[in-house]
Amino acid sequence: MQNKLTKTEHYSPAEDTIFFANYIEHEKGNNALDIGTGSGYLAKVLLPNFDHVVATDISYDSIKIAHTIIEDCICCNAADALCIDFDLVICNMPYLPSDKIADATVDGLHEGLEVPLRIIKAAKNVLKKNGKMIFLTSSLANYEKLLKLTESLGFQVKIVATKKMFFEELILVEAIK
Ligand SMILES: C[S@@+](CC[C@H](N)C(=O)[O-])C[C@H]1O[C@@H](n2cnc3c(N)ncnc32)[C@H](O)[C@@H]1O
Repeated sequence: MQNKLTKTEHYSPAEDTIFFANYIEHEKGNNALDIGTGSGYLAKVLLPNFDHVVATDISYDSIKIAHTIIEDCICCNAADALCIDFDLVICNMPYLPSDKIADATVDGLHEGLEVPLRIIKAAKNVLKKNGKMIFLTSSLANYEKLLKLTESLGFQVKIVATKKMFFEELILVEAIK
């Protein structure tokens, strides 16, 4: 994961974004949600195959940028402002272990788990029964613990793709509610 902060404090699409985008391009359904949309890149990939795509981000700067390509953009924590059901929720997580959130684009707090878990819990609340969440984490986080904790929330969890990078391995996870 590269931290490409610009003056407007948003995450520019990076290798992790492209890895994720390639995996989701054939996903289909009615409603999809991209949590932590950043530039809106991943939400845009979903647009052709879903009737309705919603994008959220905690960063208002990101939402302003994403809104140039995604109509339904909401500035909120995870999915907290939403009360519709989704077939698919995706999130390229902020997964770096950190003591505090100095940079919301990458900092995931303790073991790189705390922020992702909050997002997964929020996703569960807006997923249809048998709905799917796809999220990206990394070998830099305690991803095995994250998978176990996600399972304990009632999801069926599996790693569906990995990509070795110079200093980490990207890990793409599918979690079925
Ligand atoms: C690794 S970046 C991914 C950005 C974009 N989806 C991509 O793949 O290029 C993580 C994004 O999550 C957002 N974010 C962090 N914590 C969040 C939260 N609690 N709720 C919503 N968005 C959050 C950040 O602002 C950032 O845009």
